[in-house]
Amino acid sequence: MTIGQERLQRRMARGADFLGSEVAIMAGAMSWVSERNLVAAMSNAGGFGVIACGAMTPALLDAEIAGTKALTARPFGVNLITMHPDLFELIAVCGRHGVGHVVLAGGLPPKGALEAIKATGAKVICFAPALSLAKKLIRSGVDALVIEGMEAGGHIGPVSTSVLAQEMLPVIADQVPVFVAGGIGRGEAIAGYLDMGAAGVQLGTRFVCATESIAHPNFKRAFIRASARDAVASVQIDPRLPVIPVRALKNAGGELFTAKQREVAQSLDEGAVAMAEAQLQIEHYWAGALRRAVIDGDVEHGSVMAGQSVGMVTREEPLADIIAELMTEAAGALEKRAA
Ligand SMILES: Cc1cc2nc3c(=O)[nH]c(=O)nc-3n(C[C@H](O)[C@H](O)[C@H](O)COP(=O)(O)O)c2cc1C
Repeated sequence: MTIGQERLQRRMARGADFLGSEVAIMAGAMSWVSERNLVAAMSNAGGFGVIACGAMTPALLDAEIAGTKALTARPFGVNLITMHPDLFELIAVCGRHGVGHVVLAGGLPPKGALEAIKATGAKVICFAPALSLAKKLIRSGVDALVIEGMEAGGHIGPVSTSVLAQEMLPVIADQVPVFVAGGIGRGEAIAGYLDMGAAGVQLGTRFVCATESIAHPNFKRAFIRASARDAVASVQIDPRLPVIPVRALKNAGGELFTAKQREVAQSLDEGAVAMAEAQLQIEHYWAGALRRAVIDGDVEHGSVMAGQSVGMVTREEPLADIIAELMTEAAGALEKRAA
């Protein structure tokens, strides 16, 4: 083992221990993409895969977990969206399967959710969008946090990864393991965040074109062709309808989303729907648009969610090779620290 590899292993030990994996790299859940094949490939490669439950019913999630278990004996997690109407049933499904880690995404967990997950014996990982919320989540008993910057693909917050990491890691990294996400494309960046106190990292975009990923060939081709500046955040067209921005590759689908926002804003004006329902309609829109691109391959009208690191995705390759490359780059960077 080189000095760099030894340093990397030491810096990843806490995160890897927490996840039960060899390396402290999580593949962030990606709706439609993070199903059994990608998740199992990630865990089999020594990282930590996470199933994206998205809008799945409890029965579908049950089948997906069983399918993943058939492909890997290693630990993996399940990502649940807090606003899912069957959240507690989904938690029970995870519990019956003995899933070790549940990641809660999409806003602060509703009352009783953390307790329900912990009662199954699973560890809870939450997204912390700001320092004050991170402290609150730690007080509520979360076991680990993900801090994700606006460079990421999919739904994003307003602050960059580098700023979140500087603001939050010095304050919270000694309390719970913190995984840094958003815009990570190479191992040198992983080494940097580990040095700042992160227990590990979470990547999404970098894994979409893994050979094992079931994403449509058109979706993968769009990733391989794109550069960082093609991955743009959606705009909010009506101040009364607060939509969470989504980062995706620029295409005609962006205009379809603008039209959808107008339609939903009009229903709000007419009193046909309440705000919560309006926001749910927007989320259903994204789920459908993402499916259209990932599964059907319509990368023109669907949503090609991608982070700014998409420019560093240059070919389709086995997941184990991507992990090996990231680890080599990270170890190389740490090796140089001696000089
Ligand atoms: C296509 C796509 C779909 C995503 N879907 C979800 C999701 O359903 N739930 C979630 O919590 N995060 C989702 N994400 C975010 C990823 O889990 C991960 O945090 C993010 O991709 C990390 O940033 P990066 O893309 O810069 O590596 C998605 C990201 C992408 C690219």
